Amino acid sequence: MCGIVGYVGDKQARDVVIEGLRLLEYRGYDSAGIALVDNGSIVSDKRAGKLANLEKSIEETPLPPSTTGIGHTRWATHGAPNDTNAHPHLGQQGRVAVVHNGIIENFAQLRDELEREGHDLRSETDTEIAAHLLENELERTGDLTTAMQAVCRRLEGAFTLVAVDAQDPSLVVAARRNSPLVVGLGEGENFLGSDVAAFIEHTREALELGQDQVVTITRDDVRVTDFDGHEAAGRRYHVDWDLSAAEKDGFDWFMRKEIFEQPRAVADALLGRHDGRGELQLDEVRITEDELRDVDRIVIIGCGTANYAGLVAKYAIEHWTRIPCEVELAHEFRYRDPILTRNTLVIAISQSGETADTLMAIRYARRQRAKVLAICNTNGSTIPRESDAVIYTHAGPEIGVASTKGFLTQLMACYLLGLYLAQVRGTKYGDEISAVISELEQMPAHVQRMLDQAETIYALARQNAQTRSVLFLGRHAGFPVALEGALKLKELAYIHAEGFAAGELKHGPIALIEEGLPVFCVVPPRGRDQLHDKMISAIQEIRARGAHTIVLAEEGDTSVAEYADETITLPVVPTLLQPIVATVPLQLFACELATVMGHDVDQPRNLAKSVTVE
Ligand code: M6R
Repeated sequence: MCGIVGYVGDKQARDVVIEGLRLLEYRGYDSAGIALVDNGSIVSDKRAGKLANLEKSIEETPLPPSTTGIGHTRWATHGAPNDTNAHPHLGQQGRVAVVHNGIIENFAQLRDELEREGHDLRSETDTEIAAHLLENELERTGDLTTAMQAVCRRLEGAFTLVAVDAQDPSLVVAARRNSPLVVGLGEGENFLGSDVAAFIEHTREALELGQDQVVTITRDDVRVTDFDGHEAAGRRYHVDWDLSAAEKDGFDWFMRKEIFEQPRAVADALLGRHDGRGELQLDEVRITEDELRDVDRIVIIGCGTANYAGLVAKYAIEHWTRIPCEVELAHEFRYRDPILTRNTLVIAISQSGETADTLMAIRYARRQRAKVLAICNTNGSTIPRESDAVIYTHAGPEIGVASTKGFLTQLMACYLLGLYLAQVRGTKYGDEISAVISELEQMPAHVQRMLDQAETIYALARQNAQTRSVLFLGRHAGFPVALEGALKLKELAYIHAEGFAAGELKHGPIALIEEGLPVFCVVPPRGRDQLHDKMISAIQEIRARGAHTIVLAEEGDTSVAEYADETITLPVVPTLLQPIVATVPLQLFACELATVMGHDVDQPRNLAKSVTVE
């Protein structure tokens, strides 16, 4: 949530900050603001709504030249999304400006204290108290870094803070606890960002900061300390994508571009993970083979789409390894006092690597001595850093708020992990593992075949432009696909959409079926005879009650024809891998339906890309 940019160098900070905000806007778009250091004072502008409102305001009232600045795009937590609550916030005297991501939990108590001292707090935000406290400390110590360390020691909760001092244009100071912050390392200039997109146009050299660290950037220097002022170090890394990956490339939406990138993303997820003879090598797994052999239970955690990837993974991992596997929403997990031992393997799935609910669940699990393996897309993010092992999904930056290539590559990583566990524990023969890997290698081509049907799916979406409700049915690994299809539609088209396990229909949901209701039905491959036939029965039942059935069935499956109002053809793939192909038309449908409804597909209302608050 919230995008943060900081800059000091010799370019115009206004341009660097606004461009950075544009690339971070997917993180939050309730308001946008900027503050520049100008001849002993802070000049700031901030506007409710999207970045375009701020840009318009700056066009009407230009900002002065400055080479030091900070900026923010907001996903509102404390206080309504209006101009007053927009960041940056200034201290009492207007000497410091602060932008913030996260939630300061002891904010009410600190606010009371400041008000008793006579501070005039204008907004409803927790951020403003940080600005006032920081300015107090700055007046006392005369040094923004020392002041930031002192303030951070008093704050509870999650925060990234970035601040400038009107009287010292040579630096920008930032701090982080439980919230993302990376440094971009330039030549004669340095950057701060919630993620590398903020500065990818200028540099691909980055410094990952640890927990509870303060960083001071000047043009030529980057200094990291802990909250007590002790020297500390970040981890330097090279970003393996460039600006072009963060641009739309001629597509109308990032989401559509990312859907069409999936053949490449799925191929990259597999790249270098096996030796060609079927032997898997997941070298980011820093858990020993002995420890993996001792695992007696797996718990998969994640939120939203990542949770659905986990649901698919359960089918595959249990089948291949015979290890009992549970899937749990990360935000529910630690509150139910789960039983974990040193032989429990927790698999944490997160595209962003910053989801607070998942991060807190990881910390809880590790405190209980469980091993945690992260499946993550974002190098340099917090979740892989705080896990015992990581498998990166290599999807490249995912900017559309609705996850697409993130999901498919999470599935690929889960399959690889399942096969790796089977290899290590000897629950599958080498040739069986090789056979599945060969099938996985076909996936990029299969996904491309699904994309080749895009125009048909778009036409279907346009026919349904007036619909107010859509249901999705699946069984086995197709059930999470149904859930994912429904989530995409809720997020993007803002209509009622629900996914059900088809077997559950007659236990209640069938009452929802009425004349003309569109129902997507994911039919398992014919290889799973019983499941397949039961799914066909479910389709018959809903059709008899008036549903408009949109049936996803594998090529050559003639049994569905009689009961399908529309048919979407899936390539013939193994049951466990079918989610990779069956999800694609549901993504295309949601993207197109939201487009024809006139919604902002990349920035759906009330949402933000990464949820860094609990
Ligand atoms: O970054 P993460 O994978 O941890 O995010 C988890 C969910 O917030 C995310 O998948 C969300 O549900 C997406 N908007 C779904 O499209």
